[in-house]
Amino acid sequence: MQVAATIADARLAVGRARAEGRRIGLVPTMGALHAGHVALVEECRRLADFTVVSLFVNPSQFGPNEDYDRYPRTLEADLAKCEAAGVDLVFRPTADVMYPRGVPSATFVEVPGLSHVLEGAVRPEHFRGVATVVLGLFEIIRPDLAIFGQKDYQQQAILRRMVADLHVPVAIVTHPIVREPDGLAMSSRNIYLDPAQRQGSRALWRGLEAARRAVAGGESDADRVRQILRAPIESEGEAALDYAEVVDAETLERLDRIAPGRPAVALVAARFGKTRLIDNARLTE
Ligand code: PAF
Repeated sequence: MQVAATIADARLAVGRARAEGRRIGLVPTMGALHAGHVALVEECRRLADFTVVSLFVNPSQFGPNEDYDRYPRTLEADLAKCEAAGVDLVFRPTADVMYPRGVPSATFVEVPGLSHVLEGAVRPEHFRGVATVVLGLFEIIRPDLAIFGQKDYQQQAILRRMVADLHVPVAIVTHPIVREPDGLAMSSRNIYLDPAQRQGSRALWRGLEAARRAVAGGESDADRVRQILRAPIESEGEAALDYAEVVDAETLERLDRIAPGRPAVALVAARFGKTRLIDNARLTE
């Protein structure tokens, strides 16, 4: 496995692979890798011939009062997991490499509309930070495909819109959520949960499952599905609900009715102490 810390070294390694006719796949991450990331790498290895993982805790997607400083940084363990998973190249730039003029003076990419609802309503600059760093990674690696987890549903919807609008020649692949045996979606932030919060966090999955069952059973009133979705979270003492929404799967517009031919997704966010968790489930295909 090759490890590059500079753009020049990353481009050299990818350029060699491309010259050999290999299809390049990218798995962008912020490190603190868990089994969910490993599943993304495995999927990438199935779809591409040269798998690149980026490890970069991106400062521009954290708000002033968020967890940038305490975000877990586990480089040695991440490299070992990448090696074991068969990654070809790890790109692990520093903030100076990705933002040579510093974050405050950086050029940003904005995806309007989609970026300011749901997560974006609570984290107003988050998605412009994500879109900017991902476009930068696409420019450096020039992957044929890039894989993102469905857990960050809004993120993958925004990145799909960004590559469509800017004609970026990369296929965005969304990998299903990888869950703990009790249903909690895997996330690098789960390690912040104390035992009571960890127990309480199962309410997210219970809400999503109940909503899915209701829709499968014929419920089409989106407000009724929202009530079903939020009920287990609101009755969980450890949780403070931020939102429980039912939206169009592509435009993220709030739905009144769940109708055939218009894929719908349920999205939830809740705080458990200082830790904010998000989760989602497709309600219809
Ligand atoms: O999903 C993440 O881990 C991050 O938002 C990403 C896509 C790596 C950009 O920093």
